[in-house]
Order: sequence, then structure tokens, then C-alpha cells
Amino acid sequence: MALILQVVAIMICLISFGECVHVLLGDPVTFPEIENCPINDSGKLSKVENHRISPVAVRERGVWKPVGNYEDRGIHGAPFAFNSTVYTDTGLYELGCGGREHTIHLSVLIGFEESVSEGGPAKLLCYYTKVQHVHSIRWEKGQETVLELNVSSGEVTYGPASDGTQSLSPDGKLGDYSLLFNRVLPEHPGDYFCSVRTNGARQGWGDPAAVRLRIRSSPDRTTPTEVVEEVGSTTSTETKSTTEEEQIGTWAAVAITAAVVFVIVAPSVLLLRWFLKSTCSRTRTTYRGEGNADEGLLNVLGTS
Ligand SMILES: *[C@@H]1O[C@H](CO)[C@@H](O)[C@H](O)[C@H]1NC(C)=O
Ligand SMILES: *[C@@H]1O[C@H](CO)[C@@H](O)[C@H](O)[C@H]1NC(C)=O
Ligand SMILES: *[C@@H]1O[C@H](CO)[C@@H](O)[C@H](O)[C@H]1NC(C)=O
Repeated sequence: MALILQVVAIMICLISFGECVHVLLGDPVTFPEIENCPINDSGKLSKVENHRISPVAVRERGVWKPVGNYEDRGIHGAPFAFNSTVYTDTGLYELGCGGREHTIHLSVLIGFEESVSEGGPAKLLCYYTKVQHVHSIRWEKGQETVLELNVSSGEVTYGPASDGTQSLSPDGKLGDYSLLFNRVLPEHPGDYFCSVRTNGARQGWGDPAAVRLRIRSSPDRTTPTEVVEEVGSTTSTETKSTTEEEQIGTWAAVAITAAVVFVIVAPSVLLLRWFLKSTCSRTRTTYRGEGNADEGLLNVLGTS
């Protein structure tokens, strides 16, 4: 029974099934409390594992205490929380108080990081292809809705976590449901989650499922103008020489890298040319396509 419950709940996170909580790997997570649970009623939080139910925490006189393997990460208090999450925390939990039971589905997700400068634009990536099998695509900040796309009507509705400045990528036909900011303001950073839904219930995650938006801290400090301005003081000379040394070091590294790359790449390129000449044009098109995909990946890595 526990197994069936777990499988069903992992596939579809139904509202009626309980509460869905999502968090980035390593972050703390707070479990919801059962409302109106009398202070003297005992409570229990358990994780539904493959073939058994293992206790996570018990509640005594209104205070939760972690048990067993959870003692090092569980925080005493109310509501109950882990001070950090591990990947295997994902799963189904049962929260009981008095005679009542409540189900919680926790998703621990790997997040991308997007650092942008304040006032600049941002694109938080989310792709999904089988959109015909879902009703909507929802972006959330933490547990609150930013916006939701009704897939059949194309209509976008905005939620409490939106200030009206976010929009959805216009490239939905290409599977691109990224969240766009035209100006990132200090209140925008946070964890954003992209899920696909049917009848309001989460059915899966976009790719990637989560992005952490940050505002990039101060820019590079070793600009030439600054060095010139500081000429005259001893510190500035030191700064200048360090900067020069750094630059020389950087150039040496660049030169060595270039030499190594040339030695390795040049024969490969010749070999590849020979290979392409001996194969049909179809292969070449595929190869070019892959090149574009790699460029896309480099862009992604470059922006993070
Ligand atoms: C809870 O239990 C304590 C002692 O065990 C008792 O003093 C207190 O009155 C109880 N509180 C309620 C609200 O029942
Ligand atoms: C929180 O986690 C750290 C390790 O990440 C651990 O050393 C510490 O004891 C934990 N604190 C509590 C209150 O569980
Ligand atoms: C989405 O749009 C369709 C019409 O195209 C409508 O029937 C449906 O109720 C809408 N769904 C939501 C959740 O608004």
C-alpha cells in the first residue's frame, strides 16, 4: 500500500493528496504544521520508503524532535525543519497529529544559477517538449506562483509572486518556456521553479526544474582608469605592479593554452576534414546541428 501511494504521489503531486514542497539541494526545508493540532497531542512525521515507513520526527508538547538518522539535520522546534536537504530527502512524508494524517511531497531539486547585474535583463531557462500532455506551465518563486500559461488558450495569468514585470519566452513552439525579466530589481533574486501541471496538480518539472537568480556583486576592480587615478600613493604602485604581474601571468597562461590546443586540435581537425569529405552531406548537417547545440550549452555555462 505504502509503495503504491508513493509511486502515485511521485508521478502526480495532487493537491488533494497533500501538500507539495520543493527546495534546492542543500537548502533548509520547513515542513508544514497540521492546523489546529492541540499543544498536548502527540505528533509524528514519517517518511514513506519503499517497503516501510521510517520515523523522521516526533512531537511532544508542541515541540518536534528529530529521531534516528535525522537527528543530525533535524531542528528541534515547531514547525519541524531540516537545516539542510540531501538528494534522497525527495519523497513522500506522513504527518500525523491526534488522529489526523496529512501527506507532504518533498522534491529536492538541482538548481541552475543565474547571476545578472542589477537593472539588467535575465532569462531563467525552462524547456519542455510534451506540452500537449499537460494543461499548464507554472513558474513559482519559492512556493508562490509568478505566472502560469494555459497551454490550450495561450493565456498567461499572473500570481502573487509577480510584480507584472516578468513574462514568458515567446518561443513556446520551440519548447522554450523560460521566464524573462526585462529589469532585475533587488527584490527579484530567489529560487524559481518551473513545473508542468494538469488540473492544477503538478505532473512534472521543466528542464531545468529550478533556477537560483542572483544579482552579481561589484564588477572587476582592476580597470586601467582606476590605476591611473591612484598614481602617487605607494599602495597604487603595488596595486599596479600586481595587476601587471597578473596580466603577464594571464597572457602566459593564454599562450600556453593556445599552443597546447593547437598541438592537440590541429591534427584532429585535419583528420575530421578527411573524414567529412569521405562521408555524405547528411552526416555533415547532423554534425553542424550538434555544433549549435554545443554553442547553446556554452552560452548557458557562460551566463551562470
Ligand atoms: C498540557 O499538559 C500539561 C501537563 O502535562 C498541563 O499542565 C497543561 O494544562 C496541558 N495543556 C492543555 C492545553 O491541555
Ligand atoms: C546543521 O547542519 C550542520 C552540518 O551541515 C550540523 O553540523 C549542525 O549540527 C546542524 N544543526 C542542527 C541544529 O541540527
Ligand atoms: C484554459 O483555456 C481553456 C480554453 O482554451 C479553458 O477551457 C480552460 O478552462 C482554461 N484553463 C484554466 C485553468 O483557466
